Amino acid sequence: MGFQSADPEGILVGGVLMDKIIINGGHRLCGKVRVSAAKNSVLPIIAASLLCPKQSLLEDIPFLNDVYVICDVLTSLGAKTVLSAEDNSIMINCENIESVEPPLDLVTRMRASFYVMGPLLSRFGKVKISQPGGCNIGTRPIDLHLKGFSAMGAEISLDHGFVEASCKKLKGAKIYLDFPSVGATENIMMAAVLAEGETIIQNAAEEPEIVDLSTFLNKMGANITGAGTDKIRIEGVKDLKSTVHQVIPDRIEAGTYMVAAAITNGDIIIENVIMEHIRPVIAKLQEAGIKVIEGNNRIRVYSDGIIKPVDIKTLPYPGFPTDMQAQFMALMSRANGTSIITETVFENRFMHITELNRMGANIKAEGRSAVVEGTGRLTGAKVRATDLRAGAALVLAGLAAEGETEIQEIHHLDRGYYNIVEKLKSVGGDIARG
Ligand code: UD1
Repeated sequence: MGFQSADPEGILVGGVLMDKIIINGGHRLCGKVRVSAAKNSVLPIIAASLLCPKQSLLEDIPFLNDVYVICDVLTSLGAKTVLSAEDNSIMINCENIESVEPPLDLVTRMRASFYVMGPLLSRFGKVKISQPGGCNIGTRPIDLHLKGFSAMGAEISLDHGFVEASCKKLKGAKIYLDFPSVGATENIMMAAVLAEGETIIQNAAEEPEIVDLSTFLNKMGANITGAGTDKIRIEGVKDLKSTVHQVIPDRIEAGTYMVAAAITNGDIIIENVIMEHIRPVIAKLQEAGIKVIEGNNRIRVYSDGIIKPVDIKTLPYPGFPTDMQAQFMALMSRANGTSIITETVFENRFMHITELNRMGANIKAEGRSAVVEGTGRLTGAKVRATDLRAGAALVLAGLAAEGETEIQEIHHLDRGYYNIVEKLKSVGGDIARG
């Protein structure tokens, strides 16, 4: 199959825009679901392919909207990207890169487009890219990315919303991140791969997606050690080679289906999981009285109907993931008591509160914390997905609620959950696009 472009507004079926989900809630979800490859791994890995003038083959990739956007970015620069529907693979060839200026509309559509900055600067010594700007969950600056590039010798200027960077050749440097930013760690790591000498990133993010990116880069011929710890060393290399890579499973998708079992008093076996990656989610579900049985690459989650309130604080990995905060808030709104959910990673990630309250939840935001008075019961309503994980929380609430829930602006969800409607239907959810 040839390359398909991203549709920013949702899924078109027979020319009709399907940007709603309708759920008739109250059914126990039971059965098996397989988790797809991690969106947050796939995006930087596709960007990293720009470092190498040879071919990369990525296997078992979910064709999500965000994946189409990052492929669009690469093709706009001159790369060849071929998606194969037969085996869900993507072949990328970055031999003939003609531009180092990713188009404004693609960079502003998806923040992760900014990941091409490190590879372009490292391989070509220049790049001009729009600042990605804020989004619904916060201002999301890029100062840490730029601080890293500048420490490696890049001249950086900001002008009318664009960042321009140039250098003869990046040079290895010691870079301390004020916060263990996932994106900054990845961007700097990619930039350092072709730099002269050794780069050390201190207070680096430790997320599994960073380890996966480093595995991909090392297979290509990079020399990276320490990924997954707070100190990453990258010894610059001259050349990179063709590679094939299978991306790790999506721990946030896994966590979302775990909550789907819990919130519907269901019983779901979730396949293709790496247990270590979902430890914080397992721990909090168990604290809430949900039963979890770990298997080999699979996990069974079931509930006997009692959901105890638990307090949650989001933190960088291995702490509780901010990307699971909204889904847990939906679960806690059904608990028999009060829980406090504190968001420490993003400053404005509570947009789902208003929408959950429309469904009968009783949640109040107090600064960076939310006080969730469990009501035990949710009811169907018309609600709006404000961002990706908020959308997931509303789907979960809708599955548990009595009556019909209509969720609008579901394109947010299609950015990060592959075949979510089909997967939830297969375990007994009464859910359809509308
Ligand atoms: C990535 C994930 C996102 C997840 C987040 C935190 C991808 C594609 N996205 O986003 O799903 O929610 O990690 O786990 O992988 N910050 C700065 N300056 C910077 C960079 C970040 O102040 O230069 C701040 C941000 O505003 C935020 C915090 O650091 O408050 C964490 O952001 P970061 O870890 O960079 O998240 P992303 O990489 O954007």
